[in-house]
Amino acid sequence: MSTEINNIIVEKAKTSKIDQVDFDNLKFGSVFTDHMLVCDYKNGSWQTPKIVPYQPITLDPSSKIFHYGQSIFEGMKAYKDDQGDIFLFRPLDNYKRLNISAKRMAIPELPEDYFMEGLTTLLKLDHDFIPTNDGSSLYIRPFIFASGNGFHASPADEYKFIIACAPSGSYFSGKVKVLIEQTYSRSANGGVGYAKAGGNYAGQFYPTQLAIDKGYNQVIWTDDTDHKYIEEAGAMNIFIRINDTLITGPTSDRILDGITRKSILEIAKDNGIPTEVRKITVAEVVDAAKNGTLKEMFGAGTAAVISPIAGFGYNETDFDLPELTDSYATKLKKLITDIQYNKSEDPYGWRFKVTE
Ligand code: PLP
Ligand code: COI
Repeated sequence: MSTEINNIIVEKAKTSKIDQVDFDNLKFGSVFTDHMLVCDYKNGSWQTPKIVPYQPITLDPSSKIFHYGQSIFEGMKAYKDDQGDIFLFRPLDNYKRLNISAKRMAIPELPEDYFMEGLTTLLKLDHDFIPTNDGSSLYIRPFIFASGNGFHASPADEYKFIIACAPSGSYFSGKVKVLIEQTYSRSANGGVGYAKAGGNYAGQFYPTQLAIDKGYNQVIWTDDTDHKYIEEAGAMNIFIRINDTLITGPTSDRILDGITRKSILEIAKDNGIPTEVRKITVAEVVDAAKNGTLKEMFGAGTAAVISPIAGFGYNETDFDLPELTDSYATKLKKLITDIQYNKSEDPYGWRFKVTE
């Protein structure tokens, strides 16, 4: 039996899987909530969204997603405070970025209310799955892919927008050791690096595996022209502290405009941390590591929050970063997560309450 809430057809799961979730030992993105939102695009428009029990999808073998990789996604989190209230962080920025990605990948743009009403209705239904343990949250994965059929290499005529949610713990366990990439590239000028396109991640797996085989956790991507500039860290934007200045590269065709990145820049400025948004060369970072002025490096992203980098490899040499008592990563992580989990004031208006 189905009902309708906010113009969304809702078919509730007959039984809940909540008892199968071990909230004290949550991994990242590996168990899912009872429901998912599904909305089809066909005959030139997005159809009525539906919330249905979480389930597999059946697709024709000629679906264009399988052949031409027309697929985009977002990464968000829902947080629950001590009162049981649910919050999102800058959700409209994710919505806007989804449509930026959609445009680049020739996918039809999604109306705002389908995204926001769909997401908030789903969260209210699955609210028991939002963890309250420290550092845990409900990871939200909105995505769109080409479900239309045919081997012709052209945009599909049908798509699916889905939101799936996973109660999750931290993305990395422990500190991260990175390898500065000198051969492969994640993105190029005029390419799709600024979009959250599925293929951007597939293209990273092989070079990242090579780095893992050498004992690193992640690759630091450099520019595709001559691997001279530091760009991104896997699925995170990268911050580098030299002396007391926090530096991150400017966004471009090649770099994702991260919501955590831009939030951290604002929080840092407002908390007396000098920041610079400028191109930063690998040579500058290596020199700073050698002369002791390189204090910290950390990755920033929704899944990884702020992940301190313990050391990096470059040209077959490993450089360790010092353990600091006044770490910017620690300070900024507390400031941003206190806003996200409703533990502090939010002077920026970033917190979005999902009202009952
Ligand atoms: N860079 C890449 C390539 C990413 O996949 C992500 C994750 O979403 C980020 C940066 C960080 O972006 P955000 O802070 O919006 O999650
Ligand atoms: C996120 O931080 O939400 C991401 O999308 C990264 C993901 C590839 C794990």
